[in-house]
Amino acid sequence: MDKSICRYDASMRGLLEAINEEPIGTAFIVDEEQKVCGVITDGDFRRMLLNGRSLEQPLSKDDINPSFVFATEDERFEEVLRKTDTKVRVVPILNAEGKLVNYFRYDHHVKMMPVAEPKLNGNEFKYLSDAFLSTWISSAGAYINRFEKDFSEYCGAKHGIAVSNGTVAIHLALVAMGIGEGDEVIVPDLTFAATINAVLHAGATPVIVDVDEHSWCISPFAIKAAVSDKTKAIIPVHVYGQPCDMDAIMKIAKDHKLFVIEDAAEAHGAEYRGQKVGSFGDAATFSFFGNKIITTGEGGMVLTSNDDLNDRMRVLRDHGMSKEKRYWHDHVGFNYRMTNLQAAIGCAQLERIDQILNDRDAIEEKYVEALKQFTFLKWQERFMERKRVTWLVALLAQGVDRDELFGCLRNNGIDVRPFFYPLSEMPIYSRYALSNKNSKDLSAMGFNLPTIAQVDFSRVVKAFEEFKALKINN
Ligand SMILES: Cc1ncc(COP(=O)(O)O)c(C=O)c1O
Repeated sequence: MDKSICRYDASMRGLLEAINEEPIGTAFIVDEEQKVCGVITDGDFRRMLLNGRSLEQPLSKDDINPSFVFATEDERFEEVLRKTDTKVRVVPILNAEGKLVNYFRYDHHVKMMPVAEPKLNGNEFKYLSDAFLSTWISSAGAYINRFEKDFSEYCGAKHGIAVSNGTVAIHLALVAMGIGEGDEVIVPDLTFAATINAVLHAGATPVIVDVDEHSWCISPFAIKAAVSDKTKAIIPVHVYGQPCDMDAIMKIAKDHKLFVIEDAAEAHGAEYRGQKVGSFGDAATFSFFGNKIITTGEGGMVLTSNDDLNDRMRVLRDHGMSKEKRYWHDHVGFNYRMTNLQAAIGCAQLERIDQILNDRDAIEEKYVEALKQFTFLKWQERFMERKRVTWLVALLAQGVDRDELFGCLRNNGIDVRPFFYPLSEMPIYSRYALSNKNSKDLSAMGFNLPTIAQVDFSRVVKAFEEFKALKINN
């Protein structure tokens, strides 16, 4: 940064060298006492040349605008940001003596780096157009059967029931298990609201329990403490790609004769003791929303190895219509079907799932390496017996103001996503909550970084450096 400093009486060549020194294209002009008295950008320099100035000429007083934009060390991030616009992209930060201590740069034209984007560069379009041309565009068709078969096999479950999204997948499983009014279902506090919404739509009573502070997944201790004689099921959520402690959970379920529905919406391909998630519980549900590990646009699936549950779910998915007698309804069912078009995309995605998972892991590794100097960051843990997957790169910002950090990242064109709010904190769910300390703490610190093929790591590092340099938290 010091090399970007240029004396007010330097030559045009000296000014050019200072401008060229850092990629900000700006020189900070100082007086004899090293106090900043102006800012000259590469644009200003070009205009000076066009006006006939030679490189050997010295700067003149008229070149330096005395009412330049600057900020002081004690100004908060938002205040500094407000000083920038499409013209003012670099703001010098001055100490009480008017000397340069740092600079702030924000380019209002930077394209936002999204947190997630689907990778559709395999056979997706080929299969989709095949399904389209076949005219089987609704919920019957070869791709539906293939996707159900391939995905259930991949996860090690006997049956796959493709549905329209990951929320109805949970609802379908609950209803097929006969869970409804008067029954309690234990859910974790730190999850997407779909988990609890499905329980409420089934007419059952959710019981919200805390998560483990290390794995961020539902705590078996909290489950144990929450079991009552009304409890019918547990929904462990493999949150942010981390498998839950399935040994402990399955033991509690066995001891108390409870159903287990794994919510694996965020954990396709994750493993617990070498076994894929989705194959432990009586049923498991997945989402194929556009930001998930593999996608069908919208979509979901329930897996089960229980033949009866499979039969019931297939009937309920299709308006409760009898399989033997068409248009005869034995149950009040739903239309929860997936289309053949969606399944076609799903088949192509599934062909590349191992590559997709490896690529996501590699992105996380690069973040860990690039950001290792920022010791306030705590990365999602890995456990011996659990092979977690990287859904969205997930981490905690400890002891700093996370929202200020978000501001810095977003203003550098890096989208960022806070962890889910604990269910227990939201008035519509709070009455169902038992315990929430860890969920509350994690939710306040956690966030997801862009987990996409084209992460600009230098931009990310720069944003973190800016955050640190601005001492936003102090
Ligand atoms: C943990 C969890 N459960 C359920 C869902 C619901 O999935 P969908 O959006 O496909 O309904 C999601 C995802 O959005 C999720 O993250």
